[in-house]
Amino acid sequence: MALSSSTLCHQNLTKPYYISFHKQPHILSHLQFQTPPKTLTLDPKFTITGGCKLSGHVPISGSKNSALSILAATLCCSGTSKLHGVPNLSDTRTMASILRSLGAEIEACNGEMWINADGVGSVEPCPEDIGKIRGGFFVIGPLLARFGEAVVALPGGCDIGTRPVDLYIRGLRALGAIVELGDGKVRAQAANGRGLVGGRFRLDHPSVGATETLMMAACMADGVTVLSNVAKEPEVIDLARFLTGSGACVEGAGSDTLYIKGKNQLHGSECIVPPDRIEAGTFMLAAAITRSSISMSPVIPSHVACLIDKLLAAGCKITCAHDTLEVSAVPDDVGDNLQGFDVRTCPFPGFPTDLQPQTMVLLTTCNGSSIVEETVFENRMGHVRELQKLGARIQVCGSTAVICGKEKGSALLSSQLVAKDLRGGVSLVLAGLAAEGVTEISGIAHIDRGYENLDAKLRLLGADIKRLIPLTSPL
Ligand code: EPZ
Repeated sequence: MALSSSTLCHQNLTKPYYISFHKQPHILSHLQFQTPPKTLTLDPKFTITGGCKLSGHVPISGSKNSALSILAATLCCSGTSKLHGVPNLSDTRTMASILRSLGAEIEACNGEMWINADGVGSVEPCPEDIGKIRGGFFVIGPLLARFGEAVVALPGGCDIGTRPVDLYIRGLRALGAIVELGDGKVRAQAANGRGLVGGRFRLDHPSVGATETLMMAACMADGVTVLSNVAKEPEVIDLARFLTGSGACVEGAGSDTLYIKGKNQLHGSECIVPPDRIEAGTFMLAAAITRSSISMSPVIPSHVACLIDKLLAAGCKITCAHDTLEVSAVPDDVGDNLQGFDVRTCPFPGFPTDLQPQTMVLLTTCNGSSIVEETVFENRMGHVRELQKLGARIQVCGSTAVICGKEKGSALLSSQLVAKDLRGGVSLVLAGLAAEGVTEISGIAHIDRGYENLDAKLRLLGADIKRLIPLTSPL
């Protein structure tokens, strides 16, 4: 990879050196499924020169959250499963490492993954890896269903709330398991010493992860399971589709009740990971925030319907043709400014909590004041303090934020920011695109967990964003 000489200077050897990635789009294909070399991985940063208009078309990657649950489900299957469109993210690589730690064989190349779990002989996945991502914990369902026991560390993931696992534990108990939580691990085993038994369980609230994990467990339980008040997210439907393709009997995905008739065995199958609705929503908001017009595909419009409604109400122009979506907020199209709006996050089909921070950035650039109420996670306002460093006028009270929109002549001004979680982190990138001057964002490893080649895709659209990677030792 060609390094630009201007980014290397040799004055002071103690200060870490940065090399800059700001080359053009061909970088997209080259990076498939390769982790950067060791010396180059210490706390990279983004620098963003704001004020650039975006234009053109951006490809949307496969869904992170669908890929994670489908990868967990391959543990239920004998033989090989083949997945297409698995995004190249640190989270999917961690999930692959979790499956390998159990004994699964995995081949991966250019977004395609072959997983064979016939060799799985352990029921305790690598605790360190589980500690990195929430989705890793989902393997407790397939392991318990297949082997009658599982020992799984408590999961990691974004620090956006307490994120307990009580619904998983009570749900598995309803399927005939003895489940104990102790020393940071959940130990579960089938009470009858053989396997799970079909049962009934009502979730207190429609947890996505608990729904997916209990669905996988029930697929290999003896008898019928009825899960009610379940999550209706598209990722739940994607998982049910994969399981059904692998021989499972799952009905009701997308509704608030699942009916699952257990089978002794499932078989490997092939599936395409659907496009990431949250990545698509993030680029739709990037267009609105920078008052630009861009198109993107593949997108399933019904998956971003809530956001489409809000952007239309704000004054954006949106067109959908097949799986291509175009968002325009160009002044010629929408007049000199967009109107603010209120948002209340809710489980699907409500407004997605994973688009809340990015939407807040848009609202700082709109006319009038707006209210954002976060109802899914109790601690998902961490990005506000960083946005305030750019001059954003946001007041937070508990899980509600009041955003004062743009006043004539006021603009966000660049600053040095720190990303603390995935979606909060990407909201800082969007704010950097709108801010006057050069914004620097550290902690971008959080962003790389959920966005494939974000900076390269933004450069494709004309943004002036660089990825700086510190060198710990001179070349
Ligand atoms: C999934 O997390 C997604 N992660 C999250 O995306 C997403 O924000 C969330 O669903 C909601 O849409 C993955 O799919 C890997 P929940 P999950 O269980 O399953 C409470 C991103 O940025 N709860 O639906 O962990 C919980 O504390 C990530 O991609 C319990 O109380 O979310 C929360 O308040 C962030 N007990 C609420 O339910 C439980 O046993 C919803 O969480 C489980 C959850």
